[in-house]
Parts: sequence; C-alpha cells; structure tokens
Amino acid sequence: MQGELADKVIFLTGGGQGIGRECAIAYARAGASVVIADINLEAAQATLSNDLGGAGLAVQCDVASSASVQAAIQQTLAHYGRLDAIHNNAAISGPSKPLHETTDAQWDQLFAINVKSIYHTTLHGIDALKASCGCILSTASMVGELGQENHAAYVATKGALIALTKAMALDYAPFGIRVNALSPAAVWTPLLRQWVQDQPDPSATEDFLNHIHVLGFCPEGDVVADVAVFLLSERARFITGVTLPVSGGAELGYRRSGTK
Ligand SMILES: NC(=O)c1ccc[n+]([C@@H]2O[C@H](COP(=O)([O-])OP(=O)(O)OC[C@H]3O[C@@H](n4cnc5c(N)ncnc54)[C@H](O)[C@@H]3O)[C@@H](O)[C@H]2O)c1
Repeated sequence: MQGELADKVIFLTGGGQGIGRECAIAYARAGASVVIADINLEAAQATLSNDLGGAGLAVQCDVASSASVQAAIQQTLAHYGRLDAIHNNAAISGPSKPLHETTDAQWDQLFAINVKSIYHTTLHGIDALKASCGCILSTASMVGELGQENHAAYVATKGALIALTKAMALDYAPFGIRVNALSPAAVWTPLLRQWVQDQPDPSATEDFLNHIHVLGFCPEGDVVADVAVFLLSERARFITGVTLPVSGGAELGYRRSGTK
C-alpha cells in the first residue's frame, strides 16, 4: 500500500463517528490498516463498511475497562501481528456544569473514559509499540489549556491528558516511541452538537462557535484528521511531547466583541 502511513497498523478509539471517523478515513487513505475500537460496535462497523470499503477491523471496546481494551488490542495483534500507533480519541463531554454541580459518578465516568483510558491502552499496547518504535497520539482540547466555563470536570480531563502526553513522551522516548496530542477548539461532530443543545441558549452558542475561530468558521473533523496523519507519519519524526493546536487560532489574543 502506498501513502504516508503505508503498512502501519493504527488502533483508533472512538472511530465510530465525529473526529475519530474522519481520522479513520484519513489514516486508511494514507495507507494504514485501521482498527476502529468503539463502545458502539454498530457505529464502528458503519465507519468500516461505509467509509473504509470494509478494509480494517471494527472492534467493540469500552476504553474505560482495562479488560475490554486488553481484549481489543489482543484482537488487533492476532489479526495484524503488529501495532504501530494508538490514537486515544474516544471521550465524553458531559456534564456541562460547574464543579460543585457535578456528581461523584459523573466525575468518575469522565475521568475513566477520557483519562484512565490512556492508561489502559498504554498498559496493554506498550510492548507492541516498543517492538515497532511506534506512536501514541491523543485527542486533547483547547479547553484543557484555556479553561471553559460551565464544563469543569471535562476541562480537567483534557488538562490531565496534556500533562500525561508530556510525561509519557519522556518515559517512552528511549524506546523510540513518540507521544503527542492534538488540540481542537470546536469541531462539528455529534458530541459538539449535543453540548450545544445542553447550553442555556443553543442558537446563540452555535453562532458563538462559528465565530471563536480567527480563521472564521467552525470546521468539520477533516482538519483534525489531516494533522493526525502528519503526527503519526515520518514527517513528524522529531516531534514528541507536543499538544498541537488545530484550532483556527481560537486561542489567540484579545478580540473585539462581535468580530468575525
Ligand atoms: N467536537 C469538538 O468540538 C471537540 C473539540 C475538542 C476536542 N474534542 C475531542 O475530540 C474527541 C472526539 O470527539 P467527537 O466530537 O468526535 O465525539 P463524538 O461523541 O462525536 O464521538 C465519540 C466517539 O467515541 C465513542 N465512545 C464514547 N465513549 C466510549 C467508550 N467508553 N469507549 C469507546 N468508545 C467510546 C463514541 O461511541 C463515539 O463513536 C474527544 O476526545 C473530544 O473530547 C472534540
């Protein structure tokens, strides 16, 4: 297979929809074999058959469960015999609340799916990545660096992910494993559409999202997928420990209110 990711086997979590689905498409187009690991098997299978022409693997996997991740990675290794990259992309974003209104169970669920998942994929995938001198990539969020009102626990998970990326980059560099993250601001996906619906004024929030990016619009997931391909490719061979913004400049400077 030709392409920047030719012959690479990529284990991608949350590839059933949204940014993960776009990454699955971009990875396959770049020549990789993609394992779409999603809690929603039907969605993973739909990505595989509708978008990847059936090439690759769809596996049911709950990233919050160590046993489930272990089984999915074992399935990957049994099928392909190697593993070149893990992309930790699956996450949930709710609840959209300040910290004191977040329940104990909501806090634990957010951290299990958004952060402990990275522990699970690393624990079960690291030996295979050492063998391939592979890569770990995680989908962070600009809110993990900037903060966001009314979304405290989710913001904390993304901050933790960014810190983990640096620590893991240090620990795994001696094995030739690069560890990076990418950081979108907002991207139109089912997750974002749900978050918009949870806001007090969804229509004003949608308008706001279209205007926070200096480049002038809220993008679809393809912009993130292109950067993900780059970070997993040889062209990024000297980049590690980085959280790369894919944010249309949303985090830049003071802006006049109402500026488009
Ligand atoms: N959409 C945005 O605006 C935005 C912005 C910044 C960061 N992000 C991040 O991008 C990533 C993808 O977000 P999205 O908007 O595409 O989300 P999405 O909700 O549209 O898709 C998430 C996918 O993850 C899967 N998933 C959920 N829980 C899972 C679990 N326990 N185990 C395995 N799979 C599970 C879902 O089934 C779904 O297929 C997330 O890490 C999110 O935090 C999104």
